[in-house]
Amino acid sequence: MTNPNQPTPKVPLAPVGGDRQSPDISRDTISQEIQNLARTPTEYSHAIATFMRRRTHLSQYAETALTDPAFAPYIINHGKDLGRLGDVSNITDLRVFFKDTPNGENAPLTLEIGFGMGDSLVEMAQAELARNFVGIEVHEPGIGRTAYLSHELGLTNLKVLNGDAIALLNNLPSEHLDTVQLYFPDPWQKKRHYKRRFVTTDRMTLVADKLKTGGIFHSATDWEHYALWMLEVLDNMSEFENMAGKGNFSPRPDSRPATKFEKRGTDYGRASWDLLYQKVQPKAIPHWAYAS
Ligand SMILES: C[S@@+](CC[C@H](N)C(=O)[O-])C[C@H]1O[C@@H](n2cnc3c(N)ncnc32)[C@H](O)[C@@H]1O
Repeated sequence: MTNPNQPTPKVPLAPVGGDRQSPDISRDTISQEIQNLARTPTEYSHAIATFMRRRTHLSQYAETALTDPAFAPYIINHGKDLGRLGDVSNITDLRVFFKDTPNGENAPLTLEIGFGMGDSLVEMAQAELARNFVGIEVHEPGIGRTAYLSHELGLTNLKVLNGDAIALLNNLPSEHLDTVQLYFPDPWQKKRHYKRRFVTTDRMTLVADKLKTGGIFHSATDWEHYALWMLEVLDNMSEFENMAGKGNFSPRPDSRPATKFEKRGTDYGRASWDLLYQKVQPKAIPHWAYAS
């Protein structure tokens, strides 16, 4: 059994606890898979969803939050009916939703993609009241539960959205967000599903564009193959600088509470790996590089 208090390991990475998870974890193979994916035409990859919508039980609390107008301050949009994916095509600015709140629209803004049941997002919003948080999910029980908890706690700095994060990001202006967090994204373990992974060069180019220069992308996973995959994708993007140095995972920041998926992984004896990247100015190409 892995000790959950153990610090996040640095590279080189040994399999920690549980089974080894993936048959081929060699960095060369992972790099080759990523390059193969990069050759997929962009229009095609944009049509591939990173999520699978599940029909799960809606608790009474979640249903109340999704239907009672008292919860409207916490929910930016709904699906057309209960059980439908929300339309984010008209959402072109997230800051505007905080205009009439104590923080206002210019406070630092974090977007969490795929917050699941929302406990860790609510805890973060409660711990950092001067920062605004928006969470986007496709899973309605989580959207309702998060709105319910925010209402219970009287939070004014957290709002949730129902919809596809890729569609949302496509509509936002460049340099809009201070932080993007993606905790325990679906690992899409089978090779034929790698194209559904949220962290691909294509999707992360979109994320980088929406982050302010100096802004942070923070991810964590308990899936070893995906941890190495993210490292390979992000270390090779000129828009990002690995805050732990190329090739390294970051120690888990105290500010990141354990999520529901993470706790489940810990129960199976799995470790977690955090990745923290800062958006940097693209490096100017020296004039001599143009010389033939
Ligand atoms: C494995 S779960 C992790 C949930 C939570 N972060 C946790 O750690 O407990 C991944 C979540 O991401 C959501 N998701 C995946 N792709 C998404 C997208 N494009 N837009 C919004 N949510 C997405 C899924 O619905 C799912 O709830």
